Amino acid sequence: MVEMLCGVLLLVVLCGDLTAGQTCQANALRRDCGYFGIQEPECVQTKGCCWTPTEGQPWCYYKTSPLSVYHVDAVMPNKLGTKITLKVSGSTSSQFGDLISPLTMDITMESDERLHVKIHDSNKQRWEIPTDVSPIGSVPSSHPANPLYKITTAKKGEPFYFAVTRASDGEVLFNTSHSDQPLQFADQYLTLSTTLPGTESIYGLGEHKVALQLKRGQTFTLWNFDTATPPNLNLYGSHPFYMDLRQSGKAHGVYLRNSNGMDVVYGNNFLTYRVIGGVLDFYFFLGPTPEGVVQQYQEVIGRPHLPPYWALGFHQCRYGYPNVEALSDVVTKYAANKIPLDTMWTDIDYMDGYKDFTLDPNNYPLSKMTQFVEDLHNRSLQYVVIVDPGIKVDHGYKPYDDGISKGVFVKDKNGNVFTGKVWPGVTAFPDFFNPMAAVYWKDQISTFYSTLLKLDGLWIDMNEISNFCNGQCSGSSHPEELRRSVDDGLKFDPNNPPYNINNQGTSTKLNIKTLDMDALHHGGVMEYNSHNLFGLMESIATCSALESVREGKRCFVLSRSTFPGSGAHTGHWTGDNHASYDDLYYSIPEMLSFQMYGIPLVGSDICGFNGDTTEELCSRWMELGAFYPFSRNHNVKGAKPQEPYEWSSVAAISRKMLGLRYSILPYYYTLFYKASRPVTTIPSATVTRPLFFEFPTDNNTHSIDRQFMVGSGLLVSPVLEQGSTTVKAYFPAGKWYDVFTDQVATTSGGTTATLDTPIDHIQVHVRGGSIIPGKGTGLTTYDSRNTDSTLVVALDNNGKASGDLYIDDGETVSTSQWMFLTFNATSSGSSGQVISDIAGQAGDLLKIPPLGVVKVLGVGGSPSKASYNGAAISGFQFNTTNNVLLLTGINADLTSSFKITWE
Ligand code: GLC
Repeated sequence: MVEMLCGVLLLVVLCGDLTAGQTCQANALRRDCGYFGIQEPECVQTKGCCWTPTEGQPWCYYKTSPLSVYHVDAVMPNKLGTKITLKVSGSTSSQFGDLISPLTMDITMESDERLHVKIHDSNKQRWEIPTDVSPIGSVPSSHPANPLYKITTAKKGEPFYFAVTRASDGEVLFNTSHSDQPLQFADQYLTLSTTLPGTESIYGLGEHKVALQLKRGQTFTLWNFDTATPPNLNLYGSHPFYMDLRQSGKAHGVYLRNSNGMDVVYGNNFLTYRVIGGVLDFYFFLGPTPEGVVQQYQEVIGRPHLPPYWALGFHQCRYGYPNVEALSDVVTKYAANKIPLDTMWTDIDYMDGYKDFTLDPNNYPLSKMTQFVEDLHNRSLQYVVIVDPGIKVDHGYKPYDDGISKGVFVKDKNGNVFTGKVWPGVTAFPDFFNPMAAVYWKDQISTFYSTLLKLDGLWIDMNEISNFCNGQCSGSSHPEELRRSVDDGLKFDPNNPPYNINNQGTSTKLNIKTLDMDALHHGGVMEYNSHNLFGLMESIATCSALESVREGKRCFVLSRSTFPGSGAHTGHWTGDNHASYDDLYYSIPEMLSFQMYGIPLVGSDICGFNGDTTEELCSRWMELGAFYPFSRNHNVKGAKPQEPYEWSSVAAISRKMLGLRYSILPYYYTLFYKASRPVTTIPSATVTRPLFFEFPTDNNTHSIDRQFMVGSGLLVSPVLEQGSTTVKAYFPAGKWYDVFTDQVATTSGGTTATLDTPIDHIQVHVRGGSIIPGKGTGLTTYDSRNTDSTLVVALDNNGKASGDLYIDDGETVSTSQWMFLTFNATSSGSSGQVISDIAGQAGDLLKIPPLGVVKVLGVGGSPSKASYNGAAISGFQFNTTNNVLLLTGINADLTSSFKITWE
């Protein structure tokens, strides 16, 4: 009872009495008695609690150990788990609203690896994310055979708790019984906390610009917000998912399926959720490998979209290209400088008065634009433009008139069209909860496509929703009038929730730079509940519109705002970063976190968005950005130009690095393919990954975020500091070869090396044991795809290596022709072989170029000849100084199995 009574301001005397005589034990486990921003007088005098400011701990904490006021009332086992009823014993009043009672806790054992625990109001349906927006995976009909977890709960009559342990070793993964906060479930304040061992590594809980391994003592606020990416604060998307890696190297994941605003407080030995609505809907993924955790998470939220192959080429964008001539000039200069470029982009500059689905008649006139796009297409380049959700309120402007006549705009509390302000001025916003909005959106895209430009993809920005006003621009929002009764007897105030999440680090109101919280979506859905979903819903509508308008070609959508499930429809760039070395570094943890969120197509604005870049920074950024899954140079209006040809040095670096990128795109594309497949078919989920994904038992890797892996086979170690020409690179166990020189960097690994890395270089190493499929390079992916295939076979210390390759047409949604090949190499002394097998296939892919080149690294002995399916390979070279075998002119038909041998 104590904690609940202490939460009730009217009972301060009693509260003080109950805790009197006990001492404040700052070094014991602290149970939070406060909230974000509480001050000492309220903590000590009003609440009778202890006050000791310490980083990573609640500053205001109880003298006593509060137990849950919820008690187990009934336990009912069922086919896949248990249903438990919880009731509040005693008073239901609490600091942040009346506690809801009874609650139901549904425990569902969904698979051997997946446990689902949902706590909700027993009597009333509360806000939950619709499953057609963010899916929930399929639930089996029978009990899993060998669950990797056990769940224990309080028994009938006992105070509520539950704990999840790993079945194999009994390790406690999540335990609410002795944690920072006992369960509280009020209408606008839901809190639950788990104890942590204090030695774990936690990742995720984005979107934030922070180190990959989260630091204790921080509050991670999830509330989609448009801001120029300050560190630590809530950014454009929300991903209530974390991965917990224990020192044993075993990982598990926790997903709270909830779209309301929340703070997740990560303390020295606890993690606490403070959520302002919805239900407590937890999924636990048992891994135990990090990659396994992501696969299991994606089984719930949806597997990532397979992008068109060209999306993996290089992209050039900037805000402020003045006219179509400037666009042409950029494309010409790329070609003249022989720098690969696949896609030219245009920011809001192309629009007439920043109105979506229009062209500026003076600077981007239709005739010239049509010619420009045709020229791009003739050269096998693509064209992508930006579209913002804000539709200008302007009678006579068709997208606005259509939206009005179809009734698809978000409404204010009075049922009038909600108006904000974005680039074009006063705007209305499509409401994707309204099924007609998808039709409306498709109509706009379709008209733009058929009457204006044959675009290849769309860039959806400002979709947090970003608004230049705080709420409705006209100032017609009056929070005090808006007390809306949605719960029996409980007052629900969306604009003034009793608990303030730490929005932008200052607990500012929720409507800052976005809509009012009482703005209404179709079906009575309030912005308060659905705010974090807008970007995802716009992504779904945009991808589907593009696929229908472009007749079965895979969509390309790049969204700034994301939520669990976005990866099935869109990629993401990390927003308005700065031309700074800090942001060069942060781009790595951001990219890696989004791999965990199921959005592998991700990258940051190369050379930096805000501010002027420098020759050195842009060199380093082109080197690193060449390995982002999504690789785009983008810059703010008014800043110095930063296309790579602006400096001859950066041009040369870009030729080298993008040349390498294009030559290994079959490897990237195969990783994307594997991530997009059902986990039961191919167990792979990410494209780039943290080192700990591949080496979880090597504790040195747990905090590394200045290096990363591409798939399991490539290790990228960039220079991230100004003036530096060395990299301190950690090599995990194994044999590693330099991809540029083929030299062995280390045969054992587990070591850190300082590597000379002059301004025109980045360290990239291939891991012994990998086979990396590739192509010749090209200035477009189209050209590169038409060259012969290559294989780099990097033998491990046992003379073995393996890899795979996916091939299709690279663009259609339901490809009827595809092939998945596996490669296995074995060698002993001077002889060895690579066998190619067709692991999966549909239709005929007869016209694909053959395998031309095989390079084998780490060959023992000194072979003197090689053959393809028994016939001699004439292009034979063996380099005895670095043990590299190079076979050329092989002409192997990839569409049937083959064997290449050397001796
Ligand atoms: C936003 C985007 C940025 C874009 C600009 C103008 O700031 O994040 O990428 O260039 O708007 O559209």
